[in-house]
Amino acid sequence: MTHALIGPDAVVLGIETSCDETAAGVVRGGRDVLSNVIASQSELHSPYGGVVPEIAARAHVERMPLVVDRSLRDAGVSFADLDAVAATRGPGLIGALLVGFATGKAMASALGVPFSGVHHIEGHILAATLEFSDIELPFIALVVSGGHTSLLAVRELGTYEVLGSTLDDAAGEAFDKVARLLDLGYPGGPAIDKLAKRGDPAAVSFPRALSGQGLDFSYSGLKTAVVRHVRSVEAAGERLKRSNVAASFQEAVVDVQVEKTLRAATMLEVGTIVLGGGVAANSRLRQRLNAEASSRGLRLVVPAVSLCVDNGAMIAAAGHFRLRRGEVTPLHASAAESLPL
Ligand code: KG4
Ligand code: ZN
Repeated sequence: MTHALIGPDAVVLGIETSCDETAAGVVRGGRDVLSNVIASQSELHSPYGGVVPEIAARAHVERMPLVVDRSLRDAGVSFADLDAVAATRGPGLIGALLVGFATGKAMASALGVPFSGVHHIEGHILAATLEFSDIELPFIALVVSGGHTSLLAVRELGTYEVLGSTLDDAAGEAFDKVARLLDLGYPGGPAIDKLAKRGDPAAVSFPRALSGQGLDFSYSGLKTAVVRHVRSVEAAGERLKRSNVAASFQEAVVDVQVEKTLRAATMLEVGTIVLGGGVAANSRLRQRLNAEASSRGLRLVVPAVSLCVDNGAMIAAAGHFRLRRGEVTPLHASAAESLPL
């Protein structure tokens, strides 16, 4: 018999620093988002076309106090009102993770409240429960972001079966790399999404890697195909239609994601699909998944973008869930670059 370490209406502060968002949020009872402050560092990494780990870690150190302070003020609570503190333990960039993890442990220790080191992917999955209280189990979760691409079966909260993941780049990383190639800046996902609206998704036939084979994903071949296409157009002295390249690339990514997610739902006979991670903001992915899911009588759950991207509220929700089950993270624990789910 496990012993709950916090009450059902506990106020939990969640801290997230696994990548390039310095984020903190306060959640009451694992349901009510009292605040969700996200300080993006994209302007710092933009000149490099991707996240520079050392820069990310240093920026977390500088921004953390302000972000935490703001999250408490937005929530209308003080340190003394916190019943627990949660922070992302992994996976992620280790230097970045250590900042939030050490901050969370220090706060919990000073306040004399329990600490929860959260698995980042569990945070992304539980983010949906902050907006929708009626998600039926079991469900399939597709978590796609700059750092991960995971297709999971969730039969009960707290137990996650990884059905598929990426063999190389993460989905968002592929968007960022192709955007850099097309001179669209960083982060590339939103720029490609926008440009693709003016392009023809059938203009260039890019490969659909691993389509029809298993539930893993791969993006390196697609990225190479885009590079080859751009070079051949340039070599021929023709004008590159960037909107067509963006739309065709995006379509290739979305096609495989939709196919595998629906196949997983059919295989496991589940009625609900939950989408999470920064790439969940992609309008084409939402549109296609929505259409395909509804035509099969499946429910698609997509939380607001502020809950899909890396954020502190989802970490607070996951911390609440674990602490209610009596699972506390000891203060001698460390963060980890990779962590089993
Ligand atoms: O979840 P997130 O904020 O941070 C990570 O854990 O990585 O996701 C950021 C990623 C970036 O790679 C960004 O390019 C991508 O999500 N992204 C998008 C869109 N908005 C953000 N990708 C495709 N379409 C979008 N609209
Ligand atoms: Zn993430």
